[in-house]
Amino acid sequence: MALMNLSTGPRQRDKVYGRKRLVPLATSDANRSLFAGNDPSLSLEKAVAKLSIKEAHDSIQTQRSAAALNDNQYQEERLPGRCDKQEHDEPPQDVSFAPDEDVVTVSKPVVERKVALSKEERAVLKPVMAFHRVASFARDFSAFGSQLTKEFDVRKLNEGSYSDCFVVRKPNEDVETAVLKIIPLECNGRASSGAASRAYDFLREVKLLAALEDFHGFAQIFRSRIVRGRMHDQMIQAARDWLETTQEDVDKTIDPGSRYPEDQIYGVIEMAYAGTDLDLLEKPSAFQAFDVFWMVAILLAKAEKEIEFEHRDLHMSNICFRPGNEGTVDVSTGFVQDMRKNPSKVLGLSGLRVSIIDYTHSRMRDAKTGEILYNPECPFTAEEMASYKRERRPCDQLDTIVKAQQWMSQSHQIQKDGAAKYETFTPKTNVIWLSNVLYELTKTAGSKKKRCHVPGSSATAKDLQDDLWNKLAKTLKWIGSPDLHSLPESAERFLNEAMDLGLIAKPDVDAFMESLNIDASPAG
Ligand SMILES: Nc1ncnc2c1ncn2[C@@H]1O[C@H](COP(=O)(O)OP(=O)(O)O)[C@@H](O)[C@H]1O
Ligand SMILES: [Mg+2]
Repeated sequence: MALMNLSTGPRQRDKVYGRKRLVPLATSDANRSLFAGNDPSLSLEKAVAKLSIKEAHDSIQTQRSAAALNDNQYQEERLPGRCDKQEHDEPPQDVSFAPDEDVVTVSKPVVERKVALSKEERAVLKPVMAFHRVASFARDFSAFGSQLTKEFDVRKLNEGSYSDCFVVRKPNEDVETAVLKIIPLECNGRASSGAASRAYDFLREVKLLAALEDFHGFAQIFRSRIVRGRMHDQMIQAARDWLETTQEDVDKTIDPGSRYPEDQIYGVIEMAYAGTDLDLLEKPSAFQAFDVFWMVAILLAKAEKEIEFEHRDLHMSNICFRPGNEGTVDVSTGFVQDMRKNPSKVLGLSGLRVSIIDYTHSRMRDAKTGEILYNPECPFTAEEMASYKRERRPCDQLDTIVKAQQWMSQSHQIQKDGAAKYETFTPKTNVIWLSNVLYELTKTAGSKKKRCHVPGSSATAKDLQDDLWNKLAKTLKWIGSPDLHSLPESAERFLNEAMDLGLIAKPDVDAFMESLNIDASPAG
């Protein structure tokens, strides 16, 4: 999320954006004063509240295992999660109390607390709830959590700069049903306190997710909504459990139950579970490193070509991996033991799939509306940028941020097309961020002597792994260069030049690209 004017240091294992969060006292006070005379907790109304997670998940599952399904069936199943009804063409008259008409499938009715919004909050949230992928009224957070926890087990997954991410799954099932990204919002129309996201940042993220959902290898959004109030006790407990065990550099003195005021407004994004983030992939094998890097590069090149996509924050926590169709994330011992000649296809041998997530700072052109979505603000203060310049090491995250910012500034100055700096299409940022991904993936492999082979590897398999590491090292030398002018202009150009240089084989790229047009794609 956009993070400004925070002076605490970066997290150890995570993103530079993800820092200790502040308790938004300013928000609390502002909300209280805005609420004068309004009692949000007393009024109860019966509403038919439906969880969209389940049916949308079923839809995505259907989509992913679609080999067996015909097109009509697929369309029917995915409609409820898509919410493409025209009701949102006109903004709702009274967004705070409008019935949730945009969910098509009926689930269990619950008695739900009506939440009030002040005039100012309503004005700020109106465009958000008018967007067809956001529920059209604000729901009581606790009641939403109560319904959720009745049906699902909830576990906190991780947190980002402002967001808390929970994963839900049906009891006794071992498949994650959905991820809930919960983002505290500032809706008072005043200057940001720096402790929560603005409503329009949330809206932009939802729009980006919606635009990217048809791309394999990007996060699959189900639904999003605005909620207000206290987080449900079971979710608070899940957050406490996470806090006890996490290795993240977070402030453990702030209890999740009192982190935010009782009347806090949140944006909630429901999306498909994309797997474990790459930060947790320790000591990748050559097969894994090769797959992750080139799959991400290809996914990026495709989105860049089709919708002018630039991620602009592609560090390891923003890429997830999970087992593919074979249920594995690396080659089997048997496979490397028996290898007597090189396989005809190398990309995909690990069996893992990757997904690119978190588009907080991303830029793209919406193919349907032509709208250019981008974060207009630099996420860093001048002091932060100065310290990154001092502390960076070649190709690490700080260095990548500095290089990407430098390139965007330069391109903007040269282009003079009147567009704002971050609006300008500068696809070389994708290449710059790819160098960071590759740096992180290869850093543990070390020198030739230190490189590990998958245990049990035959001589041929060892040679193949050495060859993959060598090619990755060559690639990093190329795209990790501090001479930004020497880098390919875009991920697409990079891919083409890499094929020419023999760093990746064209049949591998073609086969993976082809798989992206098929529902049960290895990119998920
Ligand atoms: N769809 C998802 N599937 C699996 N993990 C996710 C998903 N979305 C988020 N996460 C986890 O939560 C973390 C924070 O989410 P992210 O979208 O990156 O938030 P932020 O914008 O605050 O950085 C990620 O680094 C990742 O570990
Ligand atoms: Mg993130």
